[in-house]
Amino acid sequence: MTEGRRKRVCVLISGRGSNMEALIAAARRPECPYEIVGVISNRPDAGGLETAAREGIATTVIDHRKFDSREAFEEVLHETLLVFAADLVACAGFMRIMTAGFTSRWEGRMLNIHPSLLPLYRGLHTHQRALEDGVRIHGCTVHFVTADLDGGPIIIQAAVPVLPDDTPDTLATRVLRQEHRIFPRALELVASGRIRLENGRTVGTWTADPEIAVVSPSLD
Ligand code: GAR
Repeated sequence: MTEGRRKRVCVLISGRGSNMEALIAAARRPECPYEIVGVISNRPDAGGLETAAREGIATTVIDHRKFDSREAFEEVLHETLLVFAADLVACAGFMRIMTAGFTSRWEGRMLNIHPSLLPLYRGLHTHQRALEDGVRIHGCTVHFVTADLDGGPIIIQAAVPVLPDDTPDTLATRVLRQEHRIFPRALELVASGRIRLENGRTVGTWTADPEIAVVSPSLD
């Protein structure tokens, strides 16, 4: 599937790191075109740090509160990614807004998972906002990171039906299960070169079952 060596991936986290875990688990397969070489957190108390260490993966904390500016924080982040010799960067619940200077340095090589069907519900509290709007189908998206917050070209999405008695938490739990499926897949597609960012658009080849649709409420 992949030409040559496996792509080196650094995962950026701020919290519990369940998406990071899904990426680590997927990378254990011998045919996986990427390996996770490091985990970087901007928060010293991120739960995902312990999980990563338990998995034998190098971890680094770059505490954003110790820097005077976003740029100064990002300079150290960039240098750290270079030390890890990262080919690709996976933002897995990394809750920092990035400057255009930083995103342009990693353009086409940095992916983010977001808990909504973008371009709907950029930003925070996506599940609550979806419930307030009364949508019947919600979901998650992996996209290339650009200077446009949560607005970069889409790589993969999963749709999740909204149920009548859903709360933000129950909906989040079902969306998260799909996040854990699509993030490793997106990374695999990019690491293997089947999907790439070109002139501001996602291009490449992929397959999808043309007969599958999520209908909610169901038709029967
Ligand atoms: C995930 O739901 C992810 O989509 C979201 O944070 C959660 C992190 O969970 N990311 C964002 O909201 C980014 N805008 P995790 O730490 O268990 O992977």
